[in-house]
Amino acid sequence: MTKPPVLLTRRIPSAAFARLESGCDVDLHDGPAPLTPDELKRRVAGKQGLICLLTDRIDGSVVDAGLPTLKIVANIAVGYDNIDAPAVKSRGVVVTNTPDVLTEATAELTWALILALARRVAEGDRLIRRGGWTGWALDFMLGTELRGKQLGVIGRGRIGRAVAAKAAAFGMTPVFAKHDMSLDELFVSSDVISIHTPATAETRHLIDRRTLARMKRSALLVNTARGSIVDEDALVWALKERLIAGAALDVFEKEPTVHPGLMTLENVVLSPHLGSATRETHTAMADLAVRNVLEVLAGNPPLTPV
Ligand code: DGY
Repeated sequence: MTKPPVLLTRRIPSAAFARLESGCDVDLHDGPAPLTPDELKRRVAGKQGLICLLTDRIDGSVVDAGLPTLKIVANIAVGYDNIDAPAVKSRGVVVTNTPDVLTEATAELTWALILALARRVAEGDRLIRRGGWTGWALDFMLGTELRGKQLGVIGRGRIGRAVAAKAAAFGMTPVFAKHDMSLDELFVSSDVISIHTPATAETRHLIDRRTLARMKRSALLVNTARGSIVDEDALVWALKERLIAGAALDVFEKEPTVHPGLMTLENVVLSPHLGSATRETHTAMADLAVRNVLEVLAGNPPLTPV
């Protein structure tokens, strides 16, 4: 029996790849850069499944190139702002993502950033490496303690709740926007503000000049969700004007390009979209995407549809 053809836009961990190959004829793009839109359209033609990453833009025209054979677009990410889901679904093609399996990894990275920012870990590392450390002193590189502070969480989904669940370990009080208080109250009263909401038209530039100006001057802003939620021009302005005390960003408006204004500020911690990047989690994400494809191509409902 011939196996259904599937396009895989990037190499995945070997166990997931073996599972995929056991049920599908895999066309793997193994290059260093994402497929160009034209390449994507050319290679999706005749395929029944497409497994993609958040670096692949999937719109109606890509799906049209895969019709009439294409049945599923499986994103290896929980966020699916790279996919025009209404356009894909309106063409009768299933869209899936990878929820749950990355919740803890992303929550852990969020706390790594909160702690690094509050205790100036990255700044201290840079100082030592450039030979600038002259010794211990009582007034040297003082950070801010988390204990007794308020953690404002924007987004009460799985990741936001997992981040909040760890707040007690650091003596922080978590509050959720639109649940415990309004978004504006959260901006005004929180010591650390952590973003865990999907990228949508409504959340684009949710953090802008106006909302940054509402925050405490001592506030720390953390974004492990999506870059489009923070207006980076506005953030650079607020940091330079000392309207907030610092920011830690794992996601950016134009990845992998980072706003040059962020690169020179000491009170900014930058990480290269590492939220889910653990061996365990990336293996589980790839495996879930593969299982979604195998189910749908076997005529069963998807495991995690969007
Ligand atoms: C996701 O799954 O949306 C993450 O951003 C990937 O790390």
